[in-house]
Amino acid sequence: MKKRQDDYEAFVAKFERKRTSDDCYTPPEVYDIVHGWLSEQVDLRGAQIVRPFWPDTDYRRVEYPDGCVVVDNPPFSKFAEIIRWYLERGVRFFLFAQHKTIFNLDAPYTRLVCGADVIYENGAAVRTSFASNLFGDTLAMSVPDLYERLTTAMRSKDPLPRYSYPSHLLTFSDLSRCASHGVALSIPRSGATFVRRLDSQQAVKKYIYGGGFLLSDQQAARMEEALREADRLKAEKVASVAWAISDREREIIAQLSAGQA
Ligand SMILES: C[S@@+](CC[C@H](N)C(=O)[O-])C[C@H]1O[C@@H](n2cnc3c(N)ncnc32)[C@H](O)[C@@H]1O
Repeated sequence: MKKRQDDYEAFVAKFERKRTSDDCYTPPEVYDIVHGWLSEQVDLRGAQIVRPFWPDTDYRRVEYPDGCVVVDNPPFSKFAEIIRWYLERGVRFFLFAQHKTIFNLDAPYTRLVCGADVIYENGAAVRTSFASNLFGDTLAMSVPDLYERLTTAMRSKDPLPRYSYPSHLLTFSDLSRCASHGVALSIPRSGATFVRRLDSQQAVKKYIYGGGFLLSDQQAARMEEALREADRLKAEKVASVAWAISDREREIIAQLSAGQA
């Protein structure tokens, strides 16, 4: 019986979409945005663009013509190895990178911190930044315009529009915001009545996702206060642990500072 179950699971697995970060194929419009942005920053005229990362390929055996630039989305699990390999050979690159590990390698490349949530062809949403050796001595930089372009493109694919509701409407997401930030709140039945949509949504045939409750003035005021408290606690949580700089590190900083104009 167990064997039959294993065979069935293996059979079903063949049809499942892969969701590992190594199999995040880049949607063409995302690639075009990145390539377009890069060509506004760096003169790519005459440079052959190379994309060496594909299944059953070894990037070390691909041809890199003089002056070419690798603009591609590498397997994230080999990120450090790939960066070192290109740096050692002087191959120019601009690579997609997993946002959270972008600072994790001590090597002379530029970390372009973007952090846009890109949805790849396999459906995985991966917070994405970039790594490159095309930006000279820059250690790290934020790229707000690239973030904006990618985020706008992703938003236009999002089938769920973002709604905002007045404080007199209670939705499940309001209470879940309280729960996840440590705020306890109970709403009595006498202060609320169930609604599927607001009158203002009727003409456009829209409904409240998950349904909602109209609240009395008193309960709406409590809800507003609770949400303010949740936001305050959230902000506090984010900035909670302050680490100190040691004397040894102060010496390093002094040396770095002496070397700066
Ligand atoms: C994140 S996917 C991106 C695929 C494609 N370049 C794109 O942008 O849509 C990374 C690809 O690199 C491939 N890959 C894994 N190891 C590789 C290697 N050593 N050399 C070249 N490609 C490799 C994986 O099979 C996968 O298809």
